[in-house]
Amino acid sequence: MSFVLLAGMLALSVPAWAAPDPLAPSGRWSANSDGHAPVPPMGWNSWNAFNSDVDEEKVLASAQALVDTGLARLGYRYVNIDDGWWLKRRESDGRLIIRTAHFPSAATGPDPSFRPLTDRLHAMGLKAGIYSDIGRNSCGQIYTPDFKNQPEGSLAEREVGLYGHVDQDIRLFFAEWNFDLIKVDGCGVRGLPADAPRVRSGLYRALPPLVDMQSLGGSDVAGVRKLYTEVGEAIRRHSHGRPYVYSLCLWGAGDVRSWGKDVGNMSRTSDDIQPLWGRMLTNLDTVTHRALYAHPGSWNDADMLFVGTGDFDQQHGVEARSHFSLWAMLNSPLIIGYDLRKLRPQLLAIFGNAEVVALNQDPAGNQAVLAYDSGEVQIFVKTLADGSKAVALFNRTGAARDAILTADHLKMLPSSDVRLRDLWSKEERSFRGETKMQLAAHETRLFRVSGDRRLADGLYLSEQPGRINPAVDGIPAPLPDPTIHPSITPWVGTRGGGEHVQYGGWGGAEPDRAPYGKLLRVAGKSYDTGIGVLAGSRLEVRNAGFSQFAAMVGVNDSGRRADGPVVFEVWGDGKLLARSAAMRFGAAAAPIKADIAKVRIVELVARASGGTRTSAMPQPATWAEAALLK
Ligand code: GLA
Repeated sequence: MSFVLLAGMLALSVPAWAAPDPLAPSGRWSANSDGHAPVPPMGWNSWNAFNSDVDEEKVLASAQALVDTGLARLGYRYVNIDDGWWLKRRESDGRLIIRTAHFPSAATGPDPSFRPLTDRLHAMGLKAGIYSDIGRNSCGQIYTPDFKNQPEGSLAEREVGLYGHVDQDIRLFFAEWNFDLIKVDGCGVRGLPADAPRVRSGLYRALPPLVDMQSLGGSDVAGVRKLYTEVGEAIRRHSHGRPYVYSLCLWGAGDVRSWGKDVGNMSRTSDDIQPLWGRMLTNLDTVTHRALYAHPGSWNDADMLFVGTGDFDQQHGVEARSHFSLWAMLNSPLIIGYDLRKLRPQLLAIFGNAEVVALNQDPAGNQAVLAYDSGEVQIFVKTLADGSKAVALFNRTGAARDAILTADHLKMLPSSDVRLRDLWSKEERSFRGETKMQLAAHETRLFRVSGDRRLADGLYLSEQPGRINPAVDGIPAPLPDPTIHPSITPWVGTRGGGEHVQYGGWGGAEPDRAPYGKLLRVAGKSYDTGIGVLAGSRLEVRNAGFSQFAAMVGVNDSGRRADGPVVFEVWGDGKLLARSAAMRFGAAAAPIKADIAKVRIVELVARASGGTRTSAMPQPATWAEAALLK
């Protein structure tokens, strides 16, 4: 027998002198579950529409438009004021002072307050969001030469960021001003080394950078994580039980893609989106391989929508619908970045497509998983709470492309009807086995799908990424993800050799794929479902009433023959339930099973088990056909 089934009572005896086991199961869900983001937050933000030229009239007009158009009822509730709201930090007591010339209702005496504005938004049934920076200065101060509404006054008065004022500012934002969301940017810990021109000229104080967008190795990952964690703790203290959203804005730097899920409710995975097709691809690509790193409570944020502007304006309906469909499928927060005073029916029909919004807001919280991938066409599949699915067929190119959708992509039976409902045209059709469609240039065909599931009595793990947390993913050192489209950025153009931003996360755990862009394959046998991860990993899986765990385990064929074996363990609420033999490279996958009937958290541990190691990379460990069964 190649697997052991232990009756749930085996405790490993650990000698007292042994170092703590980094893969020790905890029996609990360790990703962030504080704050309130059971589904991706939705709403509006001032930045893409107005940059820092934000004022009360613009904010309230957009808020009113959300209510009047019915978008608020669809879920667009957060109205977020981005950079540009502050006048200064008062030197006598450190209190932040609002630019009341632009926010007249905040002129409440010597201590300006956003409370009248947040009260008004709350009375409209909306929620209010504010913006700050983890350093002493904001992005606008550091990076924008002609930034409207720069903070004014002395050097100290212009230090409007959270650094050194975390408790005071968070208390002000949440306890006094009643905000419901905060977006915390990271420019202050990125752009102010001692030799920065604006530091040398005396404009700002130096702050040794913690993150370097061009060097993962040069970033102080633990240091920047600590600062963001302290802000999260302050929000918990000062929100007094009111629901809140903590939005991290570190643009994929400092390896935030590996820890943002443990700290905040949403976390930016890339630098700023622009109203450009190529840039939308970049931002999309930073979340595509990260489905396991997003769940209810903590979402991958591909940045705000640019639907309505530039390459996604009214003349580019195909591109606008693609951008929106993809953000919905990948569970990126749907935050409108358009001046809603100008909203026309054509755009409202996009933001207001209730069936598309419903995919993003589906309570299961499963980010869509890549079922087919080329530089030209991608097929994303999302499993919904009721067991049905959605599929997006996306043409990245500027010319028409054929795409074949198969029942296998959907993990549905090829022998029965698969029914498709086009969520843009509302047409319905069905197919068996496979169907071919033509995608126009830049088009995304988006369907709700029902049919007979291949696994009738359970769910594959890769169908439920929202219930899986890669607590330890085994990546020895963060590496940049080479699959991300390198776009021309408006701020650099084609000067120099290209942007070379280092978005970490390469080699992480992935549904239906092995790490480092490989397919699941063990001893020559391919698997189209499973979880690929590195040895030295621990996955936490929330069990929603299933009674059995089953998988085929082995070293993926992308590993190395000369390297040591991997042992696979299944734990239930902190107790060892099953353990595989030591699986060597080239050995056929072996079955592993465990009874999880009363278990709440299943943990899947893959351990390197002695032997040689010829590479810095751990062996890739494959949980093929992993499933929770009734
Ligand atoms: C950064 C953020 C943007 C926006 C600006 C404001 O660039 O990524 O989303 O908040 O700062 O200055």
